Amino acid sequence: MVHQIVTLVGSLRKESFSLKIANALARLAPATLRLEVITPAGISFFNQDLEANPPADWLTFREKLQASNGVLFVTPEYNRSIPGVLKNAIDVGSRPYGKSSFNGKPVGIVSNSPGPLGGVSAAKHLQNILPGICGPILQQPEIYLNGVGDAFDEKGELLKESLKTVLQQYINAFAAHIEKHNK
Ligand SMILES: Cc1cc2nc3c(=O)[nH]c(=O)nc-3n(C[C@H](O)[C@H](O)[C@H](O)COP(=O)(O)O)c2cc1C
Repeated sequence: MVHQIVTLVGSLRKESFSLKIANALARLAPATLRLEVITPAGISFFNQDLEANPPADWLTFREKLQASNGVLFVTPEYNRSIPGVLKNAIDVGSRPYGKSSFNGKPVGIVSNSPGPLGGVSAAKHLQNILPGICGPILQQPEIYLNGVGDAFDEKGELLKESLKTVLQQYINAFAAHIEKHNK
């Protein structure tokens, strides 16, 4: 069986390193996984007043999560946390109360930065935010990718062999995590 994974990128930037990493992971994924890479573009600001008649974009996003076998977050760090657009998407997916569309879904977290710390604070914040609304989060291996600024060519192809090795190890472990929690 092929498991469908919503791969949610925490950046709207056209040349986003997070997007390129998500696409690289999709290419490296074993045959048991299909990664659908999406961004929070087009997800309306969360406003609880709208819950009585939710915007179509909320419903589409929620249905995509519900139909998936797991969720993979690939995010940069903004001011030592996750970007607001990603938090908004999580808030939309987590509601209505008690009906989180992430409910029970096994999750993975990949942070990155062109800087030296690999977005570790963003990853740690996700580990605070998610447990109440999703399924088990892959704990090992941890992955905080630093120095990603020169990892890709102008076509978005991964150049750095060391990064490729780490991404391959991670996506293999994530595939096992997905198998385990989709029995
Ligand atoms: C508002 C803002 C805040 C940022 N804060 C951090 C930070 O706390 N830590 C970090 O490593 N990089 C930080 N950066 C730099 C980002 O890592 C860099 O812009 C990165 O390319 C963004 O991810 P993306 O390429 O996926 O769009 C920040 C960038 C912006 C625009």
